[in-house]
Amino acid sequence: MKEIKPSVSVQDVICAEITAPPTAMVVFGASGDLTRRKLLASIFKLYTNDLIDDKFYLLGCGRKKISDQQFRDIAKQALKEKNAEVPAEKLKAFTDKLHYASGDYTDPQFYANLKDKIAELNKSHGIDGNILFYLAVPPFLYPVIVQQLGDSGLSCLDESQDQSKIRLVIEKPFGRDSKSAAELNKIVHKCFDESQVYRIDHYLGKETVQNILMFRFANAIFEPIWKRDYIDHVQITIAESLGIGHRSGYYDKSGALRDMFQNHMLSMLSLVAMEPPTSFNADHIRDEKVKVLRSIRKFNLEPWSESIVRGQYIEGHIDGEKVQGYHSEEGVDTDSTTETYVAAKLFIDNWRWKDVPFYLRTGKRLSHKDTEIAITFKKVPHSMFLSADLEEMPPNILVLQIQPDEGITLSFQAKRPGSKICMSTLRMNFNYSDIFGTETPEAYQRLLLDCMVGDQTLFTRQDDVEISWKLLTPILQAWEKDKTMPFEYRAGAESFSAADNLIEADGRTWRKLATD
Ligand code: BG6
Repeated sequence: MKEIKPSVSVQDVICAEITAPPTAMVVFGASGDLTRRKLLASIFKLYTNDLIDDKFYLLGCGRKKISDQQFRDIAKQALKEKNAEVPAEKLKAFTDKLHYASGDYTDPQFYANLKDKIAELNKSHGIDGNILFYLAVPPFLYPVIVQQLGDSGLSCLDESQDQSKIRLVIEKPFGRDSKSAAELNKIVHKCFDESQVYRIDHYLGKETVQNILMFRFANAIFEPIWKRDYIDHVQITIAESLGIGHRSGYYDKSGALRDMFQNHMLSMLSLVAMEPPTSFNADHIRDEKVKVLRSIRKFNLEPWSESIVRGQYIEGHIDGEKVQGYHSEEGVDTDSTTETYVAAKLFIDNWRWKDVPFYLRTGKRLSHKDTEIAITFKKVPHSMFLSADLEEMPPNILVLQIQPDEGITLSFQAKRPGSKICMSTLRMNFNYSDIFGTETPEAYQRLLLDCMVGDQTLFTRQDDVEISWKLLTPILQAWEKDKTMPFEYRAGAESFSAADNLIEADGRTWRKLATD
């Protein structure tokens, strides 16, 4: 396939960014991995880019007994590991804004102390009510902490204060099935109004995922053909070459359907399939996303392999390195039936998408890291080039490459110079780094800034979470009852036969991973 070089000029750039007001951030799970690897680095970046106010502090909470100074030292170390060229002055100024409180999350006294500490820090840092409570803890602690925030009065400080300035940020997974998600929502809503709740799906913070909205709704040429009359099918892929790392405690109880599909995969699907929202307003966008989720046809559970397939990796090789199978990962039972791969075929029963298949797949320990959305258009209805045996012309494919090598590619047929009838498939390719440079902001930067500003557009609403769990819970229950093992696939493979059959039964094939 030949490539057409990009000829995009950066003109008429329209940028709007709101900076955060004076804010207090209280992070539960401050000594954990998420805080160290993602949160601190993203907040520091916002700070060095002058996107957060100088009146800011972060109060880390954890069970570990450490002092403010020890917490600052840990943060400094983590920030240096991420970016060796951190300016020393900036680093000091930033880490001076970090504080720490240790305690037992189940103990009401801890929250009473926290309340006093927050009042004292608000005073010394000049902050008037804008506060984020961030749950970077294991999910079993969500109800405990939320309940305590409510009981202690921290979720609604005092009546003179603006309630909407107090926000709760919750990491995924939000529940593990429809019942637990609804119960968690109930507990959260006892203490916080939905307008105060920010459920994070970090995929929505990725630049290229947000670009789906710009691409679709800031251009007039795609929308008229974005429907069943012109689109043959859609493939959404999140392939990872990484395994489960040290997260077996969490992952073995979750699996790919809960870990990736209920949130990231369905979020991308709803952005691709939704109707044009009236405005770039949180609820207008979230209303349209929810309408898509509501229209997804229920899975036909029998026979399994026609609509959803699960797999689990066995020992193999990735990039020439031997990697162990899922059952040999530290902390995983040797008879675990947890899936590390899911492929599914979905239909959206509405006017736009009726009978257009959406094929979704995600897996760990595959040959490449590759996240993309590929829209395959219908083939030409008639070939006038029959005399040259050109009856089977490849369809146009539009690929939104989410990561790595972020970009957009459109393939089409064109005349090759030379003989009278000679055709090739060409690609029009826009690559983010070629045009905008390599520094794409980390998803958490976007999301944290939006929490501070009070913009819920990129956060998952209660109904979204509950509807997506309702769709997937029957599958989870059936898998639980089913005593058979997931299909095996070799680490380093692209796919396996049961997943291939799911799409090939319809006369289509999966796209190759990381096709450039
Ligand atoms: C997380 C999952 O939400 O997303 C992980 O819990 C997964 O299992 C990760 O590896 C993938 O995120 P990214 O941004 O690397 O594609």
